[in-house]
Amino acid sequence: MKKRILIIGGAGFIGINASEKFIKKGWKVTILDNLSRKGTDLNLEWLRREALNKFNFVKADIVTDLDILEKEIKKNDAVLHLAAQVAVTSSVKDPKNDFSINLVGTFHVLEVIRQLKKKPILLFSSTNKVYGDLLQIKVKEKESRYDFERQMNGVSEDTQLDFHSPYGCSKGGAEQYVRDYSRIFGLQTVVLRQSCIYGRHQFGIEDQGWVAWFMIATLLKKPIKLYGNGKQVRDILFVDDLVELYVHSIEKIKLTSGHIFNVGGGTLNSISILELFEKLKKNHGLEVKYKKESVRPGDQKIFISNNEKVTKITGWKPKINLDQGINEILKWTETNISLIKSLY
Ligand SMILES: NC(=O)c1ccc[n+]([C@@H]2O[C@H](COP(=O)([O-])OP(=O)(O)OC[C@H]3O[C@@H](n4cnc5c(N)ncnc54)[C@H](O)[C@@H]3O)[C@@H](O)[C@H]2O)c1
Repeated sequence: MKKRILIIGGAGFIGINASEKFIKKGWKVTILDNLSRKGTDLNLEWLRREALNKFNFVKADIVTDLDILEKEIKKNDAVLHLAAQVAVTSSVKDPKNDFSINLVGTFHVLEVIRQLKKKPILLFSSTNKVYGDLLQIKVKEKESRYDFERQMNGVSEDTQLDFHSPYGCSKGGAEQYVRDYSRIFGLQTVVLRQSCIYGRHQFGIEDQGWVAWFMIATLLKKPIKLYGNGKQVRDILFVDDLVELYVHSIEKIKLTSGHIFNVGGGTLNSISILELFEKLKKNHGLEVKYKKESVRPGDQKIFISNNEKVTKITGWKPKINLDQGINEILKWTETNISLIKSLY
């Protein structure tokens, strides 16, 4: 019999890529989403064409539609929970909404699973923001980027947690609940603390999804603000690699259950904003024009994920390097620019 997965938040950027992957692997996929994120209807339309309508879609909200949530969760072998309020800036503007979706919504998912006899596996997408601004790690400023002062292979899971911003707190609180429900109630859960993810179907905005946003804003000639000096570094991970890890995490649940993993592109796929601009200009003739603004509070100068734990336990490593990934997302963005324009 086909294995069944419920992808909560499955009409969003990561969700639509994950849905496509699981459908292609022969899973029976149900997407549950309230379609609050702009572009989600376009993603669903695309998936209907691409996957010949071979999935179910349920429009529901994880905060308010508890009956539907329960009915859908119990039909499945696995739940991939991606639904969230995703931007730090919006969490500062409306912390209550952020709390409700990210913490209460996740708690609802956990409570449904806890009360089931046959409990599906739960994967939860957390964030590197749970480590705060990492001021304890000394950083040096170079010409085009920040760098760690002492040689290190990125930030590992044993780094001090320091939830910063309402978003950091709500995601951090939620991931700790997810992990603890594994410890206390025996759920099979995996938490992935994701770095910056980029790829096809990403409708990046100034507040979230920066690689996509700089491309889209430049192509649409929108004003671009650069917060800080542009030397901030992130290890970017192409969405196909992340989705591959979701599959591994489920297939190897005996090894992954109860764990929290840092997941990113790693040192080899780290890039600063200025370096991205330079690549876009040199390799693609795309010049990003911007206005400088002051640094945003809590913005990490450098975040690079140390992937050693996840690689050791699952064998997973990112396969798509940053040049391939940037080519791919730019190609997708250029091809779909008139569709994207209707959203901005
Ligand atoms: N994209 C990244 O770089 C990144 C990095 C770290 C962590 N994450 C996490 O990964 C997950 C997915 O992120 P994404 O980039 O795909 O974002 P996204 O905004 O594209 O997807 C989130 C989806 O959740 C849905 N949603 C929001 N509130 C809901 C609710 N109350 N009920 C039902 N559905 C709801 C939205 O409509 C959207 O489709 C999030 O949990 C996010 O915190 C993303």
